Amino acid sequence: MILHHSQPENDVEAYQAMEQAVADGKLRSIGLSNYYEPEDFDRLVDATTIVPALIQNETHPYHQSMEMKGHIAQYGTVMESWFPLGGRGNTQTLFNDGTISSIAEAHGKTSAQVILRWHLQAGNIAIPGSSNEAHIQENFEIFDFELSEDEMQRMTDIDKDQRFAAY
Ligand SMILES: NC(=O)c1ccc[n+]([C@@H]2O[C@H](COP(=O)([O-])OP(=O)(O)OC[C@H]3O[C@@H](n4cnc5c(N)ncnc54)[C@H](OP(=O)(O)O)[C@@H]3O)[C@@H](O)[C@H]2O)c1
Repeated sequence: MILHHSQPENDVEAYQAMEQAVADGKLRSIGLSNYYEPEDFDRLVDATTIVPALIQNETHPYHQSMEMKGHIAQYGTVMESWFPLGGRGNTQTLFNDGTISSIAEAHGKTSAQVILRWHLQAGNIAIPGSSNEAHIQENFEIFDFELSEDEMQRMTDIDKDQRFAAY
C-alpha cells in the first residue's frame, strides 16, 4: 500500500497507521507516492520506523527523477514510475521524440518498448497502463534486446525536468 501524496499536516500519522497494519499482518509492504523533495522524504522517514519500499512519482524520459532516485537509494527505496509512457494524452510527445524513435528504429522495436526497456535498465519499476490487448502484449516484449551504454546516455540526455501532470 502506498500513501498517495505528501501532506505535512498529517501524513506521518497516516503512514504510522500503515505501519500498524504491517504489525497486525494486514499489509506486507508500504511506500509513498508524490514526494518530490529529498527533505520531504527525510521528514517522513525520520518520524517513522519502516523505510518505504518504494516511491511512486511521475517518472519518464522527460522527467527522470535522478535527484530523488539518488537520494532514496541510500535507504534502499526504489523509484516506481507513474506515467511511465508519459500518460494518457502525452504518449505521442515521447513516442515521437527524435532520440527515442531513432533508438527504436535501430532495434526494430517501438518507441513504447524502448521507453519501457530504458525504465528497466535505469532501475525503475514501470507498469504501463493499457486497455489494448496488442499494446499489452507489445509491452511485455522488452526482454529480447538491450540498450547500449551509449543509448542509455542518449536517453539520459533528453531529460528536461518536464512533468505532464501536477500532483
Ligand atoms: N500516484 C499517482 O499520483 C498516479 C498518477 C497518475 C497515474 N498513476 C498510475 O500510473 C499507472 C500508469 O498511468 P497511465 O496509464 O496513465 O500512464 P502510461 O502508462 O504512461 O500511459 C498510458 C497510455 O499509454 C498508452 N499505451 C500503453 N502501451 C502502449 C503501446 N505499447 N503503444 C501505444 N500506446 C500505448 C495507453 O493507451 P492504450 O490503452 O490504447 O494502450 C494509454 O493511453 C496507472 O496505474 C496509474 O494509476 C499514479
